[in-house]
Amino acid sequence: METDLPFLQKKAEDFFSFFNEAKTKEELLKLKAEFLGESGPIIPLMELVKKAPKEQKGTLGPLANTLRSKGLESFQKKWDFFLEQEILDSLKKNSLDLTARESFSALDKNLGGLHPRTVVQREVEDIFTRLGFDILEGPHLEDDYHNFSALNIPEDHPAREMQDTFWLEGTPPLLRTHTSTIQVRGMKQHKPPFRFIGPGPVFRCERTDASHESVFYQLEGMYVDKNVSVAHLIYFMKVALKEILKREAPIRLRPGYFPFTEPSFELEIECALCKGKGCSVCKQLGWVELLPCGMIHPNVLRAGGIDPDVFSGFAFGLGLDRLVMMRFKIEDIRLLQAGDLRFSYQFAGRSL
Ligand code: FA5
Repeated sequence: METDLPFLQKKAEDFFSFFNEAKTKEELLKLKAEFLGESGPIIPLMELVKKAPKEQKGTLGPLANTLRSKGLESFQKKWDFFLEQEILDSLKKNSLDLTARESFSALDKNLGGLHPRTVVQREVEDIFTRLGFDILEGPHLEDDYHNFSALNIPEDHPAREMQDTFWLEGTPPLLRTHTSTIQVRGMKQHKPPFRFIGPGPVFRCERTDASHESVFYQLEGMYVDKNVSVAHLIYFMKVALKEILKREAPIRLRPGYFPFTEPSFELEIECALCKGKGCSVCKQLGWVELLPCGMIHPNVLRAGGIDPDVFSGFAFGLGLDRLVMMRFKIEDIRLLQAGDLRFSYQFAGRSL
């Protein structure tokens, strides 16, 4: 093995250009192994340093070190070049042309969809808007007056027990138990004649089951004019339900009781899940309570500043979640807000 200094120095310097000329990462790694290995220039150089007389060690040592680190620097420079090249190549390959329609095709499949309740709520809003109704909203936090007293449910009235209330510490003191609060606010905002609907969440401190949630949606409706009768109420409810369900679903009207309507009715539809045979959703009854309604009680009109001798009207409180269940044949109300994507994806893409 040649061991004189000029030969080894030249051999080491040759590697600087070999590294630079390498065509692939593999070739570069092989050159590095050669450079540092037994047959390369560095090991014999170090041997030379070791054997050199003391007075030469001071110059030979640093020279050998410099040649080694310069060699490794040129290796690293080429290595970084290859890495950069790889990144640029992959960017080129995977680049998105944002103006090309095809770039989005993969993304399209994962676009979100509307929640089934939103789909139905929008449809119902659309139907009632076509029937001349405005859409109002009300606060979720309410006071006693709007949730109870103004609706003819004075303190200590047993009807307060009909809806279990979430009471809060502070003011406002409760979470609204029904959207009928929107009736009270709507009467203050509108002069009769008027008609409006008020959708939104309501809150009840109840045990849940297949058809009961503690947070669920209702859609209130109020129609006030001169000479409004039960015939108007039934006509509007039938037209709206037929449109909403997209079919002539069997319905039945039972007498009901609400302090804020007189007379009151329970409008029920045949359970779409069991076709009236009885199941866990309809509690084996074959019918589902969907649309309680009635003629607005004179005390409620009075509390809203409307003279019951001049005006009359009807009101209803549609159970929106139950309607969604009937429409899409969903067997458990709790699926609506469980956040299970396997459930939600079934509706993705519907009416986006
Ligand atoms: C009311 O809340 C009245 N405010 C409705 C009303 C408005 C009557 C205007 C007359 C005039 P009720 O508590 O029955 O009534 O609830 C109305 C509807 O909400 C029910 O028919 C049902 O469809 C739905 N609902 C009631 N409780 C629950 C619950 N825990 N989970 C899901 N839906 C429910």
